[in-house]
Amino acid sequence: MRQSGNHFLLLLTLFIFSPLVFLSAQVKAGEDALGTRSYDDYDKPEFCGTSCHTDFYQQWKRAMMSQAYTHKWDEVEYFKLAVPHAEKDEKVAGVKAGCNGCHAPISFLAGDVPPPLPSMNSRANESVSCDFCHTVTGFQGDIPYNFNYISEPGNVKYGPRGTGKSPEHEIAKSDFISTAEFCGTCHNEMSPYGVWVKATQLEWKEGPYSKQGVKCQNCHMTQTEGYSSSMGNKYPDVWQHLFHGAHDPGKIRGTIELRIYPDIDEAEPGETVKFTVVLFNQKTGHKFPTGSVEDRIVWLDVTATDAEGNVYHLPVDKKGFEGEEYTIASDVLAYQDIGIALDDPNFKGLQRDGVPLGDRIFRMPYFDPQGRMTMQQWNTASLGVDYRIGPRETKTETYTFDLPDDIAPGTLTVKAVLNYQKLVKPVADFLGVPEEAEIIEVNRQTTTLEILE
Ligand code: HEC
Ligand code: HEC
Ligand code: HEC
Ligand code: HEC
Repeated sequence: MRQSGNHFLLLLTLFIFSPLVFLSAQVKAGEDALGTRSYDDYDKPEFCGTSCHTDFYQQWKRAMMSQAYTHKWDEVEYFKLAVPHAEKDEKVAGVKAGCNGCHAPISFLAGDVPPPLPSMNSRANESVSCDFCHTVTGFQGDIPYNFNYISEPGNVKYGPRGTGKSPEHEIAKSDFISTAEFCGTCHNEMSPYGVWVKATQLEWKEGPYSKQGVKCQNCHMTQTEGYSSSMGNKYPDVWQHLFHGAHDPGKIRGTIELRIYPDIDEAEPGETVKFTVVLFNQKTGHKFPTGSVEDRIVWLDVTATDAEGNVYHLPVDKKGFEGEEYTIASDVLAYQDIGIALDDPNFKGLQRDGVPLGDRIFRMPYFDPQGRMTMQQWNTASLGVDYRIGPRETKTETYTFDLPDDIAPGTLTVKAVLNYQKLVKPVADFLGVPEEAEIIEVNRQTTTLEILE
């Protein structure tokens, strides 16, 4: 009898207290985490990097991760376009705080909306910092996206090993930080219209690398022999904090291999020749381009130069798939929804592509609620054809060239160049960030053909 009475009391106690325990252990994530922390909960990167983690600090300082809030183009898009738009349009009001859930997570968690301008040098400028990443313990829900990480700042710093001793903090092993899902909490984004406007982790998951256990960290935080801190042990495989991506031309170069060949070896003026270009994605673990797909373009430019130096630009052959018009450079206007933030309802838009007409563009167009092409991912209500190059995918393009009657006899040299741009030039120029339109050559190849007399 006494025994079962004790059991009853125990059960009763569990029954009364367990919901409380459950509630206090549940940390808010995603939109609900806004304002649930203070800046003081997080250590500054200088604290981590000045005397202990000097290498990681120097690497991080030179990566976009430390500039996600301060980088000029981010400042312009947030303060000139997103904030004014959010204040006018109920549907996208959430982005005023939400952009910083990923770009300045400790400001978001501290409820600092909008944070001071980068020139004010506030703690928002820390962007995605050491202590933010190393105190994430998991994510809420089934799919990582829209900053649904769980942030539990404190003296325990989570890392991949859980070994080592620090005079400044405790160290615990986290399996989560070593997964692609961790990266996905910020590298997957759904717009207020329910559209996947960033899907790098989802693309990776359905591609070949995830199946082989090659994760984001393997390509963006490569491992080498060394120390993880000035007072730590030496390891053969220390994770480097490079986070190199679109802003590292060396990472972009060679991403796609190119081969070009004609269908015949010699031809006469007036004949028709077909050139085929084969493009193989040998380097990315996701599609190319990925991430800020609304901004990025990759285009293939093919020109022929005859023996006298006359240059002919070859437009790509149409394939006839739906939405193809968005993948062939033209001089139509787009991006009219920039007018919302600018208070100019009659804003006629900007040139859509800014690259040679007729070139093939590898991209996925984003559309605003009115069906116009947009580069404002938060105002994206639908997506167009996905004509990007998937991981280890090969695409082919053909070019039909009707040789002019007056083409010079001798060797005709045909050159295929694949270029990449982080932001289409007309938009970059209009918004005062021309440096974002820098052209980075991904690859090139040439072939020749003999033109007979
Ligand atoms: C097999 C190697 C590999 C893997 C795995 C990989 N990446 Fe990449 N990633 C690259 C290369 C190469 C580039 C440069 C070309 C480009 O921009 O796509 C790149 C570019 C990027 C960029 C910049 C894209 C842009 O246009 O701004 C981001 C962001 C990125 N990767 C994040 C991730 C994340 C997150 C994961 C895991 C879900 C991941 N990567 C997995 C190789 C990889
Ligand atoms: C974007 C998130 C992120 C940021 C920012 C970041 N780290 Fe890391 N760090 C990681 C991940 C992820 C790993 C482990 C990779 C794995 O296991 O796949 C790691 C590993 C480490 C390790 C252990 C390395 C090893 O191989 O033992 C240390 C120490 C560390 N980070 C310190 C820092 C410091 C210091 C900073 C700031 C200068 C910093 N991190 C910034 C994500 C981050
Ligand atoms: C708290 C959100 C957050 C997390 C978590 C995060 N990132 Fe990022 N990452 C960003 C933001 C924001 C940028 C964009 C910086 C910019 O260009 O403004 C970025 C940029 C990058 C870039 C550079 C792209 C370029 O254009 O050069 C790479 C590569 C990258 N992240 C990889 C990773 C990997 C790998 C992980 C997981 C280990 C990860 N990120 C985790 C928010 C995050
Ligand atoms: C779910 C996380 C997330 C949210 C929310 C988010 N971003 Fe980003 N943003 C990123 C990541 C990750 C990258 C880097 C992707 C890449 O390198 O292609 C990025 C890239 C960018 C870039 C391009 C940076 C460059 O150098 O090319 C700009 C500008 C930007 N974001 C602005 C915004 C604005 C403005 C908002 C709010 C309307 C916003 N972001 C909301 C995660 C996010």
